[in-house]
Amino acid sequence: MTTCSSAPRKRLFIRTWGCQMNVYDSARMADVLAPLGYAPAEAPEGADMVILNTCHIREKATEKLFSELGRLREAKAARRAEGGKMVLAVAGCVAQAEGAEITARAPWVDIVLGPQTYHRLPEMVARASRAAGAVIETDFPAEDKFDHLPDAAAPQGPNAGVTAFLTVQEGCDKFCSFCVVPYTRGAEFSRPVAQVLAEARRLVAGGAREITLLGQNVNAYHGKGPEGRDWGLGRLLRALAEIPGLARLRYTTSHPRDVDDDLIAAHRDLPGLMPFLHLPVQSGSDKVLAAMNRGHTAEEFLRVVDRLRDARPDLALSSDFIVGHPGETAEDFAATLALVRRVGFAQAFSFKYSARPGTPAAGAPFQVREAEKDARLQALQALLRDQQDAFNRSRVGMTIPVLFTGPGRHPGQVAGRSPWLQPVHCSGPLSLTGAEAAVTVLAAHPNSLSGLLATGEAASNAQREEEPAPA
Ligand code: 5AD
Ligand code: SF4
Repeated sequence: MTTCSSAPRKRLFIRTWGCQMNVYDSARMADVLAPLGYAPAEAPEGADMVILNTCHIREKATEKLFSELGRLREAKAARRAEGGKMVLAVAGCVAQAEGAEITARAPWVDIVLGPQTYHRLPEMVARASRAAGAVIETDFPAEDKFDHLPDAAAPQGPNAGVTAFLTVQEGCDKFCSFCVVPYTRGAEFSRPVAQVLAEARRLVAGGAREITLLGQNVNAYHGKGPEGRDWGLGRLLRALAEIPGLARLRYTTSHPRDVDDDLIAAHRDLPGLMPFLHLPVQSGSDKVLAAMNRGHTAEEFLRVVDRLRDARPDLALSSDFIVGHPGETAEDFAATLALVRRVGFAQAFSFKYSARPGTPAAGAPFQVREAEKDARLQALQALLRDQQDAFNRSRVGMTIPVLFTGPGRHPGQVAGRSPWLQPVHCSGPLSLTGAEAAVTVLAAHPNSLSGLLATGEAASNAQREEEPAPA
């Protein structure tokens, strides 16, 4: 995670909650602190610096944070008793939303920083070491934090970095009724094309074979191209697909409203753009979709799905759902189940609506009772589980390309990923790490597949004979 030319003198522990973007941000914070001599630690106890990178999107994030801070208060006191010092930082979306509240309730916190200020960490660490009080940085500075962060460190270790994340877009202007992201991550911002391509080339030089482009609204991407005009995500994907050695591309999370013709064409034209798409729909009821301010109807979503599947017949879909948004009736929920049946998802995430302070839905009338939300969530999850099982089973007997990422669960096994993001395990040498090879799927499990390495003639024949069926 970090690179440091001199011997590390200080230990850094980062706890990350939430989405892949937080995982990416944690790695960037480690990179920015490496030149100060901070190297990763396994546990907070005894660390010189602890960063809690928080997520605000659903659960009772604030309460979780404060109970963690309670534990760290003791760790910090123990460190002081040893004659050391622990700098304690709270980063991420809870920091953004609750800045002053955090230092008021937990005055032993030294630094509070929002997602747009990570490049200033070294300065904040220096100020925190001197200052008596806490340092709070939760502005949305006009300057681009990506300009100020060091280059993403080349992945370390034998099997690190075969798959990598690359943030291309941040923030959101869509203001869905239930969502804190526009308030915590700020307005939509796209990194310039040249910066994205340079980071992708570095990742590939460091061993990455698959890159997942990240953004809260990644397909709203509109980064400045080298010729001065904005590029959309489809065009960016085409340019990335040209990078030698980069076998696979993915992107997440996208919004149905921003799936444009060029992006659909990219799914048709780019074999390396993997046939698996996470496209949150949240609800199948037009009334609830309107209340959520999603900007599309159920029918419009289905049309986007049909067009994507026409372009890439083996495309499988994943989605997010919220049950119990204010105003959701039994009939509205039935429309969600109907949409799920109509689409057939390979995977999905579903959540009970939870009121986020400051969002429009939090104060809306007709909040749904908790027991009703529980019942709806159970029914939806049972249906989604059946669909995921059916999708996994549908791969049995196929010979599919697997990108190997490292050792499997048992000795002598290697593990990798299918084109549809399923973990795949099979017997084989670790030297396959970083390579794509054909695997004949023998069994489907709830969240993974297992199979046999198909070799030479057999593999190429099988691939010709067994085109994956539409999901
Ligand atoms: N309550 C429940 N689920 C939520 N999500 C976002 N905000 C809320 C909320 N207030 C879910 C949405 C989104 C996913 C990342 O989290 O489904 O797509
Ligand atoms: Fe939140 Fe909606 Fe923006 Fe997604 S599109 S980040 S759900 S406001």
